[in-house]
Amino acid sequence: MSTTDRGTFASKLGVILASAGSAVGLGNIWRFPTEVGRNGGAAFILVYLCFVFFLAMPVMVSEFVIGRSSRTNTVDAYRTLAPGKPWIVAGFMGILGGILVLSFYSVVAGWTIFYTQESLTNRLWAGRDFSALFQNFVSNPWKPVLYQFIFLGITHYIVSRGIESGIERFSKLMMPLLLVLLVVLMGFSLTMPGAGAGLNFLLKPDFSKLTTDAVLSAMGQAFFSLSVGIGCLATYASYFDKQTRLVSSAFSVCCIDSVVAILSGFVIFPAVFSVSGVSPDAGPGLVFITLPHVFNTAFASVPVLGYIFSLMFYVLLLLAALTSSISMHEIATAFVIEKWHLARLRAAWVVTMVCLVLGMACCLSFGPWAEVKVWGRGFFDLFDFLVAKFLMPLGGILITMFVEWYLNRKLVVAQLTNDGTLHVRGLNILLFLIRWVAPIGVGVVFFNELAS
Ligand code: ALA
Repeated sequence: MSTTDRGTFASKLGVILASAGSAVGLGNIWRFPTEVGRNGGAAFILVYLCFVFFLAMPVMVSEFVIGRSSRTNTVDAYRTLAPGKPWIVAGFMGILGGILVLSFYSVVAGWTIFYTQESLTNRLWAGRDFSALFQNFVSNPWKPVLYQFIFLGITHYIVSRGIESGIERFSKLMMPLLLVLLVVLMGFSLTMPGAGAGLNFLLKPDFSKLTTDAVLSAMGQAFFSLSVGIGCLATYASYFDKQTRLVSSAFSVCCIDSVVAILSGFVIFPAVFSVSGVSPDAGPGLVFITLPHVFNTAFASVPVLGYIFSLMFYVLLLLAALTSSISMHEIATAFVIEKWHLARLRAAWVVTMVCLVLGMACCLSFGPWAEVKVWGRGFFDLFDFLVAKFLMPLGGILITMFVEWYLNRKLVVAQLTNDGTLHVRGLNILLFLIRWVAPIGVGVVFFNELAS
């Protein structure tokens, strides 16, 4: 299949918004505040930002080099660039990673659709037992599965429309809307009485709370949030044109992703701290149990504001989930199209069906299959663990090593400078990060994690 048949992103804005969309997701709005709340606030954010720019960004640039120089799916990229060599394993790990992420991700995204519906129909009323609502919903044998299927259906629809009129078009629509919602919500949140305590929590580092575990989580979170290590961005980069600036695009994506994560903190924590007796350390229930309570309590005197705030928040979460899920779907769809020469729609169906089956197992692990454990974990936790703690870091090590140690340096520099037509500031520093800092840094954290 030629490059034109595969499709390309039609504009620079499309490249940035689609790649940033892949990064910005539940990871920023659901997982990041959960981790920040659990790990003590500002100090965690500082460590997280170091991991984003010194470890995850070099991996992202490496993925861009692999994708654009091979212009094919993540498995064939290694076949093309390193024929007959075992590097192809990194490509297969990517396909597996994308499918596993989408399978557990769609569970939470399904919950988000349910909460959007409950907000819209004004059913998140004050005094409702939000913990019981959440527990009853997620443990129901069929309801969460149904919402998960709806979410996968929407993802399937966008991906099957192709690169330009599917992924690019929807990312261009959803990302600006998402940013507007985020800023408006932040405005609401910051004006709540007592919001200052939330700001303190986010801005004043307390390094005494920074445990080794928190540092390990910060790296897993950085990789998960930027979607690096599983070939997702290599797949997107295979649709970049020759003019796309790889380094500045990666930098923009890292900045947008970090800003969105931090803004989400500014939406959630001032609101949480404005209600007495609510802990920021509520774990994964933070946005589904704590926040509905906060929306109602904080706006008790003007319930319509609580209604608007909650609806906007869950729509925001849903949009973020979609911009990422399409990129996870695309990793495997691109592979199926090129491996079996299937039309895009058919290939997308293959991937969607696999995710429906695996996703259902994740969904049921909160209910009827709660007792089914593999290596001591239910399917949802197992998939999350395999991706964030295993496939992404290991993929990150392999990807950076492949680019800096295996690929010809001239090819890499030609990609980064668009055949010498660009002057890239800090190029040597970036190459140093790719060659030494990223693989060693990620390796240390990864092996520590395995040993613990
Ligand atoms: N990068 C995606 C997220 O943050 C997976 O949700």
